Amino acid sequence: MTTTRDDSGAVRRYSRPARLFHWLTVVMVVVLVIISLFMEALPLGPEKFLLYNFHKSLGLTVMVIALLRLVWRRITPPPPLPVAMKPWERSCARASHAMMYILLLVQPVVGVVHSWATDYPIVVYGLFAIPNPMSADAALKELLEEVHEILGWGLVALVAVHVAAALKHHIIDRDDVLHRMLPSIKPRDGG
Ligand code: HEM
Ligand code: HEM
Repeated sequence: MTTTRDDSGAVRRYSRPARLFHWLTVVMVVVLVIISLFMEALPLGPEKFLLYNFHKSLGLTVMVIALLRLVWRRITPPPPLPVAMKPWERSCARASHAMMYILLLVQPVVGVVHSWATDYPIVVYGLFAIPNPMSADAALKELLEEVHEILGWGLVALVAVHVAAALKHHIIDRDDVLHRMLPSIKPRDGG
C-alpha cells in the first residue's frame, strides 16, 4: 500500500475549501448535464425558459468556482501524490486535471457567446440578465452549438475516466488518493 502521510501518520488531504469546491462542482455539473438532456425537447414556454436559464446559471457558477479553485490552488497547493505512482501516471493525472479545468472554464464561455448569437437572454438565477453586446448571428450560433455539444460530452467522457482512475487507486492500488478528496473519513491503516 502507498500513502501520502505527514510525520504524524495522518493522510495529507486537499484543503477543506479545495474539497468543498470539488464536490460542489461535481453536484452542479451532474445537475446541469441532466438538465441539458431534456431541456431542448420541452415545448416553448415559461418552463423551457426557466430550465435553460437554470442550466446557464449553474454553468456560470461552475466557471466562477473553477476560477476560485485555481486561485486557491496557487495559495494552497494540492498534497503530493503517492511516491509509488509512475511518472506516466503522474503526467496523466496532471493532464486530465488541467483538461477538466480548461473545459470548466471554456464551456461556459462558449455557452454565453452561443446565447448571444441566438439573441436569447441569460438570466442568472432569475436575479439579473447579462447584457448581450452583439446581434444575432445564425452561422456562429450553429458553430457554437456544435462546439458546446462536443465539449460538453467530452467533459462527461473525461470525468468518466477520472472517476475510474480514482476508483482504481482506491480498490486496486489501495492507496490514499481518494481519501485526499473525501470529506472526513478514516484513512486506511498502515503505510
Ligand atoms: C461547465 C458548464 C457547462 C456544461 C458542462 C454544459 C453542458 C451542456 C450540454 C452537455 C448540453 C447538451 C448539448 C447537446 O447534446 O446538444 C448543453 C446545452 C446547452 N447549453 Fe450548456 N453547459 C455548460 C454551461 C453553459 C452556459 C454557461 C450556457 C449559457 C450561458 C449554456 C448554454 C447552453 C444552451 C443554450 C444549450 C442548448 C444548445 C442547443 O440548443 O442545442 N451552457 N450544455
Ligand atoms: C463532474 C465531475 C468531476 C469533476 C469535474 C472533477 C474534477 C476534478 C479536478 C479538476 C481535480 C483536480 C483538483 C486539483 O488538483 O486542483 C480533481 C481531483 C480529484 N477528483 Fe475529481 N472531479 C469530478 C468527479 C469526481 C468523482 C465522482 C470522484 C470520486 C469517485 C473524484 C475524485 C477525485 C480525486 C480523488 C481527486 C484528487 C486526485 C489527486 O489527488 O491527484 N472526482 N477532480
